[in-house]
Amino acid sequence: MKVLNFGSLNIDYTYHVSHFVQKGETLLSDMSYVYSGGKGLNQSIALKRAGVDVFHAGAVGTDGNLLVELLKDSGVDTRFIKIFPNIRTGNAIIQNDSQGDNCIIVYGGANQAITKEMADEVLQEFGAGDFLILQNEISEIPYIVEQAHKKGMTIVLNPSPINENIFRINLDFIDCFILNEGEAKALVSLKENEEVLLEQLRKKFPCAEIILTLGEKGSVYAGKEGVIKQEAYKIHAVDTTAAGDTFTGYFLAGRLQGMDVKDALDIASRASAVAVSRKGAAPSIPVREEIFGGGV
Ligand code: RIB
Repeated sequence: MKVLNFGSLNIDYTYHVSHFVQKGETLLSDMSYVYSGGKGLNQSIALKRAGVDVFHAGAVGTDGNLLVELLKDSGVDTRFIKIFPNIRTGNAIIQNDSQGDNCIIVYGGANQAITKEMADEVLQEFGAGDFLILQNEISEIPYIVEQAHKKGMTIVLNPSPINENIFRINLDFIDCFILNEGEAKALVSLKENEEVLLEQLRKKFPCAEIILTLGEKGSVYAGKEGVIKQEAYKIHAVDTTAAGDTFTGYFLAGRLQGMDVKDALDIASRASAVAVSRKGAAPSIPVREEIFGGGV
């Protein structure tokens, strides 16, 4: 069984700010950093750091070599990453405030230049029983989902960032959703509390496993194994960027390594707590030993 993550790669320009910039305001930042990021890249790194071999497919421009190198150095298989000579690598502008919260603008760049032909080239190397992990920062996701489903791959979708493109995907083909409250509300067009939200998600996607992340309130799984709740680990928040990606990678890794849902939720929560306590996207993702060593 192989694991393919077809996902974004971004250069993150992160600015430390006292508060998020308001309409018409010019705000000074006292610190700025450049990090490797992109929901796709972060999730591949989390999977690999959690101990799972992963193929990352995606695209960058020639300015994105550092991202490919980071994935390679982390042990991720990068043979399916295309380097476009004339398109910029995707990037993100991230404001990180003094509470550790963030807000993010993403420019798709090469992530949005993925074609059906490229998807076919990649997917021909995978088949029934292999895992496909997707987020919502690359082009041609509806096509990728359709083709992967035809092949009998197990499809995991993190519908992030949520926007109208998600509704172009045949969501009945998704085997597992990992999503936050905002994304869940958009999927079921509801503004309800988490209990009702979970019920609505289960009604709408009865065959899928659903993992709803609730920030400081923890996370909850609903699916074949019933409904299982997990508390969040309390930690001083420095930067929440990539906390969700870390959770996704570690949860999936746990399940792929044969853990039951409760244990997989637990290690995912530990790992995302560590990520929140550190600055940046990819650099904040812990390695397996930090989590299993009982540090959190
Ligand atoms: O989830 C965090 C990521 O979202 C950042 O690394 C940024 O690149 C955006 O994709």
